[in-house]
Amino acid sequence: MKLTTNDIAYFKRFSVIIVTGGSSGIGCSIIKAAQNIGPKLWVCNLSRSKPDVFLGENGIHIGVDLSDPAALQSAANTLLSRLQEAPPGEILLVNNSGFGDYARLPHADASKQLKMIDLNIRAAVDLTTRLLPACLTRGGTVVNIASTAAFQPTPFLATYGATKAFVRNWSLALHEDLRGTGVRALAVCPGPTRTNFFKAAGFTKPPIGESGPGALDMTADEVARRTLRAVAREKTIIVTGWKNRLITSFGGTLPLTWVTRMGAVILRKLRLEQHR
Ligand SMILES: NC(=O)c1ccc[n+]([C@@H]2O[C@H](COP(=O)([O-])OP(=O)(O)OC[C@H]3O[C@@H](n4cnc5c(N)ncnc54)[C@H](OP(=O)(O)O)[C@@H]3O)[C@@H](O)[C@H]2O)c1
Repeated sequence: MKLTTNDIAYFKRFSVIIVTGGSSGIGCSIIKAAQNIGPKLWVCNLSRSKPDVFLGENGIHIGVDLSDPAALQSAANTLLSRLQEAPPGEILLVNNSGFGDYARLPHADASKQLKMIDLNIRAAVDLTTRLLPACLTRGGTVVNIASTAAFQPTPFLATYGATKAFVRNWSLALHEDLRGTGVRALAVCPGPTRTNFFKAAGFTKPPIGESGPGALDMTADEVARRTLRAVAREKTIIVTGWKNRLITSFGGTLPLTWVTRMGAVILRKLRLEQHR
């Protein structure tokens, strides 16, 4: 999927891109794709490790564990003071940092589940709230990376799916709250994407097949392109790819208890395959 000249022209309004979790996967691809469109963008990445990509002459990396509220507060303060140096223009904020944990409750590691809530939910709300005054002054777009897991309960990934349902609903409501202010919100719901996500979530074998016409999964670069295209087209929510859209809309026509049961059967089968 390519960006049109109109899509690219839209990006002239942004002078700043702030990404959480740009050290790998989707976040890293979003930084690269945005720099491709706007080589002069002032880039700020927040994650524990530094991205391999060049963040630009004035780009900054703030090393931070965003699941730690005190560390997030300090990182946001640093960012807000450095933001004064950024050229005038709108802000593109991408709340992307997140992880899952493939485990059956009640055997899941409780501290990991709580850290997931702190990162996937708390950090996105906290960082956005701290940056909103600057976004309201300059104008901007807040992109929240949710997931197709946001559309139904996800047994074996129970907490993860619920965090993404929060992100999806919160992003849509945020957009309405911000209507008329010059700041928009976009919820991005990727399906399976080839990143470190599955390893970090505890899958020994990523549950995604080979790339090709029948494949459900996407590359992080493709998700990034679709995200930037949706920003340029002022969408409020996207599900990446027609197969993911078909699955999420079909699921939405069935009773939630059925969809949950079907999810449990599929994810339990995956779990058995993981341990074979
Ligand atoms: N891959 C998929 O199939 C898929 C599908 C739907 C949605 N998503 C969502 O996409 C987003 C990006 O994931 P990904 O697929 O690109 O996986 P990834 O390659 O594992 O990237 C995760 C990013 O989150 C950052 N992160 C993790 N823990 C953090 C912490 N405590 N503090 C700050 N940053 C932290 C990581 O940076 P550091 O480790 O350097 O901190 C990394 O840059 C996540 O929100 C994920 O839920 C992924």
